Amino acid sequence: MDLFQTMKERRSTRAYLDKPVTRKEVEQVFQLAGLAPSAMNLQPWEFIVTYGEEKDRLVSSLKKAQAERKTTCGPGTTKPLPEKFAQRSRQVLELMKPGITETGTSYSQFIEQGSCSFYGAPIAIIVTMDRLFPKTRYLDVGLSVSYLLLAAHAMGLGTCPIGLILSFADVISHQLDIPENMEILLAVAMGYPDKEPPVNRIKTGREDLSEILSWYE
Ligand SMILES: Cc1cc2nc3c(=O)[nH]c(=O)nc-3n(C[C@H](O)[C@H](O)[C@H](O)COP(=O)(O)O)c2cc1C
Repeated sequence: MDLFQTMKERRSTRAYLDKPVTRKEVEQVFQLAGLAPSAMNLQPWEFIVTYGEEKDRLVSSLKKAQAERKTTCGPGTTKPLPEKFAQRSRQVLELMKPGITETGTSYSQFIEQGSCSFYGAPIAIIVTMDRLFPKTRYLDVGLSVSYLLLAAHAMGLGTCPIGLILSFADVISHQLDIPENMEILLAVAMGYPDKEPPVNRIKTGREDLSEILSWYE
C-alpha cells in the first residue's frame, strides 16, 4: 500500500474480529516498527506481545483493578488544559459517543474505563523503555510506535494506542513480571478490524496547518 494512502487511512480501531493474527504477521509488524530512526541508533524501545491465555489473564487483572480504582479518561496533565486542547478532546469524545453506546458499553463506562478496545483485541502490546534513558528518548519510542501503527494498517490490521492503561502500570508489571527498570509507556491493541460497528467508522479531524505550523523568514 502506498505510504501516503496508509497515513491518510489509518484510524484507531476499537472493535476487532475474532480472527487470529499469526506470529509471522506480528513479527513483520515489529520488524517494520524497528526501522524507526533513533538517537545514536539506540533503539530504546522494547515491546511485549501478549495474546491467548496470557492476554486473558492480563485483562482479568486489569478489569479487577479497574473495578477497585477510580480512573478517568483524561490527558494525564496536572493542570487544566488550555481551551484549544480541551476543545479537541471534547470533540473526539463527542464523535465517539454514538459508536460506544451502540456497542453496549455505556458512555460513562468508556470515559471511566477508556481502555475497552484493549480487551476485545486478539493482541495486546505493551511498549516499554529502560528507565535509565532520559525523557527525550520517549520521542524515539513514539517514532517506533508510529511505524508500528502504519505498518499494521498497511497489512490490513487495526490498532489503537491505549494510554489510559498507564494508571494500571503496576498491575501490568506484576502480571507480566516486567523488571522494575522497565517503564511502561503505552499499550497498543492490535487485530483484524471489525468494520461494522460505528465505533470503528469514526474519522477524527485535524487542525488546519495554520494552527500547527509557523513560518520564520
Ligand atoms: C499516546 C496515545 C494514547 C491513547 N490512549 C487512548 C485510550 O486510552 N483509549 C482510546 O480509546 N484511544 C486512545 N488513543 C487514541 C486516540 O484517541 C486517537 O489516536 C485520536 O483520537 C485520533 O484518532 P485516530 O487515531 O483515529 O486518528 C490514544 C492515542 C495515543 C497516541
